[in-house]
Amino acid sequence: MKIVAGPNSQMLAARVAKEIECELVLTDIRDFPDGEIYTRVCGDVEGENVTVIQSTINTRDVMCMFQLLDACDKADKINLVIPYFGYARQDRRFNPGEAVSAKVIAEKIAADRILTINIHNPRVMKYFNSPCFNLDAAPLIGRYIRHLGLRDPIVIGPDDGALELAKTIASQADIEYDVLDKVRIDSEKVEIQPKYVSVANRDVVIVDDIISTGGTIAEAAKILNLQSPHSVYVACIHPVLVGNAVVKIFRSGIMDFFSTDTIDRSVGKVSVSQLIVKALKK
Ligand code: R5P
Repeated sequence: MKIVAGPNSQMLAARVAKEIECELVLTDIRDFPDGEIYTRVCGDVEGENVTVIQSTINTRDVMCMFQLLDACDKADKINLVIPYFGYARQDRRFNPGEAVSAKVIAEKIAADRILTINIHNPRVMKYFNSPCFNLDAAPLIGRYIRHLGLRDPIVIGPDDGALELAKTIASQADIEYDVLDKVRIDSEKVEIQPKYVSVANRDVVIVDDIISTGGTIAEAAKILNLQSPHSVYVACIHPVLVGNAVVKIFRSGIMDFFSTDTIDRSVGKVSVSQLIVKALKK
């Protein structure tokens, strides 16, 4: 197998290549002055079993993913790993006239097998035209928490949407879990109404699948900090972290922040590489 790393997944691709002990192919990806993107796979992939790994945080990443797939079209077999599949929050038409962005991308992908990790809404999987598998990294976060030596810990999801995630993480860490109530005012502003959870003198780990602007988590941390916890930690699967999200989160009075490495970020302390390797070997 040869691994082709997209620009946003270089560290993860390198870890996967190391574990499989296979070649990590060099790519050349550049922007033209007018904004067009030039993509070249520099190694020979003809007749090979190739795995392209590329998270699609933004539109540029989506374009790179399609270009990498096209550049590998002489391969014998192409696995596409999309550790973070962006646009998955627009998985249906919420208002008349809207584009179903997740469908637009998913149905155009031509690969022999597609792997995603904790896709925001598994409903998106039905849009792919190739065999696809959504891997669950939540147990890895749970195991990481178990070894942190926290004081009477509890896992909290910031809203009902994070309930299943909180449950899986908590069950792996063998601790309690709960969720808060979130009301989204607009795309930038979120208000979290407290719900009774006993967090006093306990270590709290707030978990979410995606942290983008950090607004949801910062609000949750502020609310929880009013209830005198021992300390508050933050964990997520996909650290999108736009703008000043990290500062916003730390200003809300948290102790530490960790995530998986589905996106190349310094908080990515829990690697999903073994999860991917296991799925690729199946
Ligand atoms: C929403 O449905 C997701 O699960 C996250 O809660 C959301 O994407 C977080 O966004 P932000 O960090 O911008 O508040």
